[in-house]
Amino acid sequence: MNHQGIPVPQTGHPTWGIGIRKGLSRAEEGGGTEGRKASCLGGRSTSLPPLPTRVSRGASLPPPFASLQRPHAARATAPPTVCVISGDDAAPEVMRPTVEILSSLAPDIRFVEVLSGREALERYGEAFPDETRAAIDHADCTLFGASGGPSRPILWYLRWGKETYVNIRPVHWYPGYRSPMLHPERIDYVIVRDNLEGMYPPREGHIAELSALSSRNFWWQAPPVRKEGAYAVRVCTDEQMQRVAIAACELALRRKAAGYPGCVTFGGKYSILPRTDGRFRTIVAETVRTHASLSYQEYLIDDLARRMVAAPETLDVVVLSNEHGDILADVASGSIGGLGLSPSACYGEHYAYFEPVHGSAPDLAGKGVINPTAMLLSGAMMLDFLGYVEQARRLETAIEQVYREGTVLTSDQGGEASTMDFVEAVQVHYS
Ligand code: NAD
Ligand code: IPM
Ligand code: MN
Repeated sequence: MNHQGIPVPQTGHPTWGIGIRKGLSRAEEGGGTEGRKASCLGGRSTSLPPLPTRVSRGASLPPPFASLQRPHAARATAPPTVCVISGDDAAPEVMRPTVEILSSLAPDIRFVEVLSGREALERYGEAFPDETRAAIDHADCTLFGASGGPSRPILWYLRWGKETYVNIRPVHWYPGYRSPMLHPERIDYVIVRDNLEGMYPPREGHIAELSALSSRNFWWQAPPVRKEGAYAVRVCTDEQMQRVAIAACELALRRKAAGYPGCVTFGGKYSILPRTDGRFRTIVAETVRTHASLSYQEYLIDDLARRMVAAPETLDVVVLSNEHGDILADVASGSIGGLGLSPSACYGEHYAYFEPVHGSAPDLAGKGVINPTAMLLSGAMMLDFLGYVEQARRLETAIEQVYREGTVLTSDQGGEASTMDFVEAVQVHYS
């Protein structure tokens, strides 16, 4: 179990053959998913098309998260290469010391720093030069700071270009984190976010383009006519929802083996979005049901938001759509003590990249006070991915000790330390 509550990777690649059974239940039509909680639509029948017969994923699906390690055989022959992209505004201020610490913990890793955003614009005349793309492609993974706008094309490439389909966002309070909650010790769960679909990437247009759409379904509201305005499209493919569901189950199984309850929670607006969130809900429920040792619960997204504050101890692995995951990850982060503390990892079948949950914090840029914890912990998740398990634990333990002592904390945590004061305190603890 690592600092973020994610079981540490095993050596070697286990078999990941998880198929979803034929004949998914019809929760998206309003029927119950036979999860722990009764469906709020209560079995109302609609005219939605049947779900497709699920094809088996076969036995070769690579693990989507922590154990998606760079093969040890490759490590033995050549040390890994990490592409470093700092991003915009205050992000370089946490990236620089993070790379310094990671380099000292794992000196054989080759860090290749490339320009992004404004710096790249100045040097190459474009924010996402070919050199940067090539460095991403040639690296084993990428460590990304945050985009404040200029680096956004790079973020797009890391997500959609490299198909990093699942975003793992651990939510774990540690002693010393300045949480606003009365009982923060109850908070220890992981958000599994769809990283590719739903409301992002933007697919928007003028409402006039919607006039061609029609439906006989009772919930359909004809789009406004002769009005100025815009729409956004939410896209959900079965393939993506299934692989996110599989990732969530695999994570829940690993956590269960380490003593967690093995409970997958789905949150969505399946009550009024039966074809998108309803379908996702069905797929998650059915995928969980293929694992006898896992349990399932579901909540409408608004109620889930309340539960994250009122009863976080009831959560273990939480599956969310792209937009819901984006928003609720910040809420979750607030519950443990702020964005400065929340790491994340994005995994695909062929690539992975690591970034904090927070953005580029433009309000802190140039002040030297941004909290580097989230970036450092994202670095620890990367060390795990690359197989540097012992080094990842050393880093996490050092960070934990700094918070336990509580004497060198940045201002978001109630202290007066600068970014570099905090980094030096961490360095003292692992050296
Ligand atoms: P933000 O996360 O940058 O900042 C929100 C608040 O949290 C600010 O008050 C900031 O000072 C604080 N904060 C963030 N990180 C912190 C840290 N490490 N230590 C201490 N305080 C921290 O979000 P925002 O202000 O809404 O967005 C700023 C920019 O970042 C926008 O352009 C947004 O699109 C972008 N963004 C990028 C990513 C990404 O690259 N993945 C993620 C979120 C936001
Ligand atoms: C995040 C950010 C991004 C997202 C933005 C910058 C596209 O908010 O990583 O949480 O919504 O995914
Ligand atoms: Mn976000």
